[in-house]
Amino acid sequence: MTDLFSLAGKKALITGAARGLGRAMAEALHEAGAAVAVMDVLDGMERAAAEMGRQGPPVHAFRADLGDRGQIRSAFGLAVKALGGLDILVNNAGMHVRKSVLDHRDEDWDRIVAVNMTAPFLLAQLAAPIMLAQGSGKILNVASMLAFFGGVNGSSYAATKGAVAQLTKSMSNEWTGRGICVNAIAPGYLDTDLNKSMADDFRRTVLMRLPKGHFAKPEELKGVVTFLCSPASDYISGAVIPVDGGYSAR
Ligand SMILES: NC(=O)c1ccc[n+]([C@@H]2O[C@H](COP(=O)([O-])OP(=O)(O)OC[C@H]3O[C@@H](n4cnc5c(N)ncnc54)[C@H](O)[C@@H]3O)[C@@H](O)[C@H]2O)c1
Repeated sequence: MTDLFSLAGKKALITGAARGLGRAMAEALHEAGAAVAVMDVLDGMERAAAEMGRQGPPVHAFRADLGDRGQIRSAFGLAVKALGGLDILVNNAGMHVRKSVLDHRDEDWDRIVAVNMTAPFLLAQLAAPIMLAQGSGKILNVASMLAFFGGVNGSSYAATKGAVAQLTKSMSNEWTGRGICVNAIAPGYLDTDLNKSMADDFRRTVLMRLPKGHFAKPEELKGVVTFLCSPASDYISGAVIPVDGGYSAR
């Protein structure tokens, strides 16, 4: 039974793993036995990778601004070369623009579309030929509850996360019959840097409605990530799974 959740011998690429949810998910993949490549732009990414890779399979770090197609292509090539192949892609990196529609500048919109929507699309485009050739692979996208709700002062975030959910289904339709499972998680509220700029009164309102009663620690999502990247979930594809402490059911 435990073999169902093992990633021993697997090669995984994860974006945005210098901190937050990505860091916890990279640890989960590594603890389950995968060799891991992390792709991020943040200083400290290399240190995070070195800490994770102290024991077990290697952890490689590749710097790329996911708002730039050229940097993505080049870092992807280096990552696959270092790993010696690719079995798992986790599109985690994301950003938020907490502004009203009227306050969004052109560059806010273009940046969030590039990072949250174009980068996962391009990385899946790059990963799929490798996975199709071997007849197996897992692509896990990180959407958000705002794939389902509109949110407040987060129109560009909601639009890009809605797109991630729809891309997940479209890619699943194209690739599931040829061995690639494509799924997304839709996290609720996490205790990460992304939410540092959240207003206190909004935070209190969320907590009043949240059945679990606290924002998730990134570590609380380690299990679902391992499950969705392991053989245990081989019959799941095209799913957008809320991981939100019961929030969206309320
Ligand atoms: N925090 C939440 O409440 C929450 C809720 C739902 C979904 N999510 C999603 O989870 C994912 C991780 O979020 P988090 O809360 O850990 O955020 P975070 O801000 O703590 O971490 C995001 C990571 O992505 C990296 N990143 C951002 N832009 C990048 C770029 N242009 N190029 C390369 N790397 C980049 C950052 O450097 C960082 O390491 C995101 O996709 C986010 O939208 C978060």
